[in-house]
Amino acid sequence: MTDDNKTIRPGVANPGPDVNRPPAANQQWGGRFAAGPATIMQEINASIGFDRALWRQDIRGSLAHAAMLAKVGIITGEDEAAIRAGLMAIAAEIEAGDFPFAAALEDIHMNIEARLTERIGEAGKRLHTARSRNDQVATDFRLWVRDAIDGLDAQAADLMRALATRAAKHAADPMPGFTHLQTAQPVTFGHHLLAYVEMLARDRGRLMDARRRLNECPLGAAALAGTSFPIDRAMVAAALGFDEPMANSLDAVSDRDFALEFLALAAIMAMHLSRLAEEIVIWCSAPYRFITLSDAFTTGSSIMPQKRNPDAAELVRAKTGRINGALIGLLTVMKGLPLAYAKDMQEDKEPVFDAARALSLALAAMAGMVRDLRPETARMREAAGAGFATATDLADWLVRTLRLPFREAHHVTGRLVARAEAKGVDLADLTLAEMQAIEPRITEGVFSVLGIDASLASRVSFGGTAPENVARAARAWLEALG
Ligand code: ARG
Repeated sequence: MTDDNKTIRPGVANPGPDVNRPPAANQQWGGRFAAGPATIMQEINASIGFDRALWRQDIRGSLAHAAMLAKVGIITGEDEAAIRAGLMAIAAEIEAGDFPFAAALEDIHMNIEARLTERIGEAGKRLHTARSRNDQVATDFRLWVRDAIDGLDAQAADLMRALATRAAKHAADPMPGFTHLQTAQPVTFGHHLLAYVEMLARDRGRLMDARRRLNECPLGAAALAGTSFPIDRAMVAAALGFDEPMANSLDAVSDRDFALEFLALAAIMAMHLSRLAEEIVIWCSAPYRFITLSDAFTTGSSIMPQKRNPDAAELVRAKTGRINGALIGLLTVMKGLPLAYAKDMQEDKEPVFDAARALSLALAAMAGMVRDLRPETARMREAAGAGFATATDLADWLVRTLRLPFREAHHVTGRLVARAEAKGVDLADLTLAEMQAIEPRITEGVFSVLGIDASLASRVSFGGTAPENVARAARAWLEALG
């Protein structure tokens, strides 16, 4: 979501011999400044290279501000009309790629305001009445994060839909369930996928929580102390879709907790995606072969012709790193700042833009892979039966049928597993006589619980992996997701 900035910033690596030659004084505050900044000052100070991503929000905010200024009589209706037309024309210019972004004008706010004055003259100079870049940037950034939240929420819903669709189809197909990545008990492939649907639902809950908390309007806090003009903050807040104006002007311009909360929830969501990505990587590997990804989501090797690498999954896994970094980076920027605004806060945007973009890419790639992958159901079924996966079912049978205390049943089952292992067979391949040699009261009935499907069908407790549970849950999710 950050734009390529090559065209508007001088090279950093080699500023050249004119590093200290001052450009012309800034048009916006030139009154007090005799000369412009050193080139390197401009280089470190300008944010237009990345904050032009805020242009839509900046124009929205200015339109709402101007409408309010006119309504309370601070500017005339004619001025407001000129400002409105000018801002619309600027929006079209930016949209078309024709806007003359200038590093000398530092950031998106001054670029747009200067252009407005260039286009409409005097009226443009009245727009900044009762406003400061401090409340302006806080407003723009909140609007941007809110838009990002809405976009990511829709993407997360799409991924949930892809997972639930697959889960409905594979509600009864067994796969090994793991703990410690050791075969534990059979589960269904659908059940495994629905676990991620639940995680994503909580991620979406966190998105909505963050959205609710950020949805207050800083505009009108001005530089830090409010303003002497008779502004109507509630009107501006409502026009921008905020629930209300922020109550404390110092807080309004100086906190970035909404951005941090966004990054924190993004880090958690990325962690969920990374776990699924890791499973996809494992499932694709030759010793597992639980799924196959098509050419659409894999790459080949330049040297090993047999390879089909799950690069997209690996990159989803890796994106977590930059998102975690963004969170820690911004926490570090903010932690020592006295109230109110400090320029340090300009460093808030890039990590948020980068994390939002990474998360959006990861969600899209994951939805693509979930729709693309082919489950190798026969192979999963075979693996689900290996490793004495129904040993717990055997122990439960001993408890239920012979009334053994569970600890004793566990012990007897352990001896039966050892016997089968020594013989090189599965539990179901032991003869009744062999079983009775270990526990004489065992009857033929035990064999009914040793199969995978019987094991799955028995897990009917709420939230368990029984195919009927899984099918019901998948249906419910698909219905809820629409
Ligand atoms: N570009 C600045 C930022 O992103 C805008 C606010 C500047 N305010 C100021 N007082 N210098 O934070």
